Amino acid sequence: MVQIRGLAYVVVETTDIAAWRNVGENVLGMSVLETAGGLALKMDERAQRILALRGNANRYLATGWEVGGQGDFDRALEQLARSDIQFHIGTSAEAASRKVRQLVWFLDPSGNRQELVWGFKSDFSRFVSPQGVGRFVTGALGMGHTVLPAPSFDETYAFYKEILGFGLADILVHNPAGGPGQRIYFLHCGNGRHHSLALFEGEVPAGCVHLMVEVESMDEIGRAYDRMLRHGAKLMCTLGRHVNDEMISFYFATPSGFAMEFGYGGRVIDWENHVAFESTAVSLWGHDFSVGFG
Ligand SMILES: [Fe+2]
Repeated sequence: MVQIRGLAYVVVETTDIAAWRNVGENVLGMSVLETAGGLALKMDERAQRILALRGNANRYLATGWEVGGQGDFDRALEQLARSDIQFHIGTSAEAASRKVRQLVWFLDPSGNRQELVWGFKSDFSRFVSPQGVGRFVTGALGMGHTVLPAPSFDETYAFYKEILGFGLADILVHNPAGGPGQRIYFLHCGNGRHHSLALFEGEVPAGCVHLMVEVESMDEIGRAYDRMLRHGAKLMCTLGRHVNDEMISFYFATPSGFAMEFGYGGRVIDWENHVAFESTAVSLWGHDFSVGFG
């Protein structure tokens, strides 16, 4: 089984690259550099974690997952070859764009583009936030988590579980109006972050429900909230604390049509002793999604 170490990066497309620069530098507090085709947003010692490309649409394009090295990458290719999924070895131009040594890409059973990579390239220059954000929580926990649409839910979940080696952290059934509801499965990979991926049983035109990045203190959440208001980003969900990963966070709109969750205090799980549950509420308090999604 492939052991994915963490969420390495995401790629997004936008018709308004200046808006991503504003969100990146002024709201998120990341350092933003020009790169081929758009902007590279840096949040740690890596060259880029969010790659924002100029294009004709506002959407999420791809999720990058990393394995430990060449051996794991080769085993991942063997695993993919045993599945029904068509996969494509990335060209040298694609690998250069993602700043990795090697890349393979494929669409999951719901059509989300996934990239599996190894060998990130970096000059290890320090992350210096233009807004004074001390540090984002990355490293062994990966860059954060992403929530992707999975209208073909059972098939998509089976693919992540059986081919990519994700484990189920817990379940939420989104059911605001009664009826059967829509499932959200929270999935972990080979690190302690409660979930690096969640699958939402529904269609999302922008290709992503939300992306989460994490900071180290409550004050950093408050400062980011102030910056969101000051720099014209739209609040999508009020401050709150999730029941499952215990993240304290708020959400705002990105220029690529999906929401960004800015969080603090996420649980780090010892998977040997974890007990999975199905929660009937999203949050312990707060998180009014009707402000942005209603
Ligand atoms: Fe989240």
